[in-house]
Amino acid sequence: MTKQKIICDCDPGHDDAIAILLAANSPQLELLGVTIVAGNQTLDNTSRNACHVLQWLGKEDVPVYPGCGRPLVRDRVTAGDIHGETGLDGPVFPPLRKLPEREHAVHFLIRTLLDSQGDVTVVTSGPMTNLAMAMRMEPLIVEKIQRIVLMGGSYTNGNVTPAAEFNILADPEAAHICFTSGRPVTMIGLDVTRKVLCYPEIVERMAKVQNRASRLFVDLMGHFCKTQKEVFGWEGAPLHDPVTIASLLDPALTVTKPMNVRVDLSHGDSYGRTNCDVFHYLGLPATADVAVDIDVSRFWDIIEEGLRRYSETEAGA
Ligand code: BDR
Ligand code: CA
Repeated sequence: MTKQKIICDCDPGHDDAIAILLAANSPQLELLGVTIVAGNQTLDNTSRNACHVLQWLGKEDVPVYPGCGRPLVRDRVTAGDIHGETGLDGPVFPPLRKLPEREHAVHFLIRTLLDSQGDVTVVTSGPMTNLAMAMRMEPLIVEKIQRIVLMGGSYTNGNVTPAAEFNILADPEAAHICFTSGRPVTMIGLDVTRKVLCYPEIVERMAKVQNRASRLFVDLMGHFCKTQKEVFGWEGAPLHDPVTIASLLDPALTVTKPMNVRVDLSHGDSYGRTNCDVFHYLGLPATADVAVDIDVSRFWDIIEEGLRRYSETEAGA
């Protein structure tokens, strides 16, 4: 089987950590690198968190590239209310051995995409600053991007403002660059990620896998479910970011609809909203395939399969 080459661009983040976990040992994917952006926490924190997760999983060979520490235009926003002071509160990790790479994430994206045969999918689960910056720095990479799969946006409600979702609001100008790149974009927004709620029975189910990956899942969800309940009143936490990877592993997981998507850059109440033309009012060409539904039970099966694959691996505390 030819493996799908991917780069995970993220801001770990509890749900980013599960996305990395799924991507790092899938037989269907070749994870070329993990590029890091400031988002849920500062760049130092999100970079350290990625290294902790990969080391814990025995995947120290996956390189981590710290990237942009600030958005392109707006002031930085973080999500400490959800992800805590470290950005990954909950699990207690052993001392860190794994170091991030010295090469900047934007340089890594440019180098990897230029050298590629146009067969690399970029999966973003944080603000889209690194990818936007890379496209502006080296426009030749644009046509080399096979596809952008992003967790972000919403055609219903936001989660930071009534209108906007965190990853888009944290760098709307970067998201605009990505949505208007002309490359195939798949948008996995809150409309579907709020359907995969990690209820206590899901945590119990994953705990039964009983390996290092499942222990990490349980520890992460302990904090994540608590803060999602405090902030949003959800009984189960929406596991946003792994839907990107799960949808690569099983393309039938989500139902998507082509839509014209425009990011609101007006700096008003709806700054950062993804205006998705669900009903094709504007008659404009589609710029993204937007996820409109998800097979929830299949999603949890994919998560469990991902956890179980770690049983045989040498995990590295
Ligand atoms: C997104 O925001 C972050 O807090 C999560 O990691 C996810 O990427 C959900 O809006
Ligand atoms: Ca994220």
